[in-house]
Amino acid sequence: MVTVRAPATSANLGSGFDVFGVALDRPADIVRVEKAAETTIDITGVGSQFIPEDPKKNTVGAVVEALSAPAHIEIDKGIRPASGLGSSAASAAAAAVGLNELYDRGLTREELVPIAAEGEAVVSGAAHADNVAPSILGGFTIATANGVRSIDTSIPLVACLPDIAVSTRDARRVVPESASIEELVETVGNAATLTAGMCRDDPELVGAGMDDPIITPARASLITGYEDVRSAAFNAGAIGVTVSGAGPTVIAACHARDQRAIAAAMLETFATHDVDSRAYRVRVGEGATILDQ
Ligand code: HSE
Repeated sequence: MVTVRAPATSANLGSGFDVFGVALDRPADIVRVEKAAETTIDITGVGSQFIPEDPKKNTVGAVVEALSAPAHIEIDKGIRPASGLGSSAASAAAAAVGLNELYDRGLTREELVPIAAEGEAVVSGAAHADNVAPSILGGFTIATANGVRSIDTSIPLVACLPDIAVSTRDARRVVPESASIEELVETVGNAATLTAGMCRDDPELVGAGMDDPIITPARASLITGYEDVRSAAFNAGAIGVTVSGAGPTVIAACHARDQRAIAAAMLETFATHDVDSRAYRVRVGEGATILDQ
């Protein structure tokens, strides 16, 4: 039996749609895998009632298939589904790391990323790796068709999760089909600035590179109160604010000294829109860890 903790993640970071991601130091999913003749899945924890236990419909089932590793799998969800915090990706990441160990497959962490990304396709319709990569590798990750790169950093963030459900599938439907050259130039500049900030562990540069003129504006309407929450976070000291993954979590990059005030401002502003929310004061953290085997 192998038990793995895989962390929540925030994908896109504005300028890096389907490419950038960061591992958050909490919350996390805990997945326990045990060899079995046939795959079965038991799910407990936050939002578990909304997640299918049928291996054909669960992200983890695709990972089992890809590794030819049938198992009894227990998933304890710490990450709410449809939160924009990489909930399905964390389960897939933990299963990939756990099954690789259980069956002694000998794959590297980098090699496990595309395998876990297959699980993402089951829930969102696209095998993007921007959540599974940081959940497996930790830090800030750049996932492209040519592979994945990771950078260790510990940038402080505030992730505010409103009590609204946004499915990745729905949020991908509103993504514009094209962009202007001006928008692309702006996005490349922002993405480069953000990457430099991650390399230097500099929240000012990370925040300055989080703006996205293409996808985030199209998705903002799916999140009640988004513009007001964003403004409130900036007023409380945030350096950059955007939608986390497909939403509805709103994520802010900041200095650690401002985390408390930003979290309070975001919670209060969602409340003025009659939306309950919870805020996580986090840092970019480590990837999946094997707890026990
Ligand atoms: N890059 C993905 C998206 C992350 O924004 O649709 C969510 O799974």
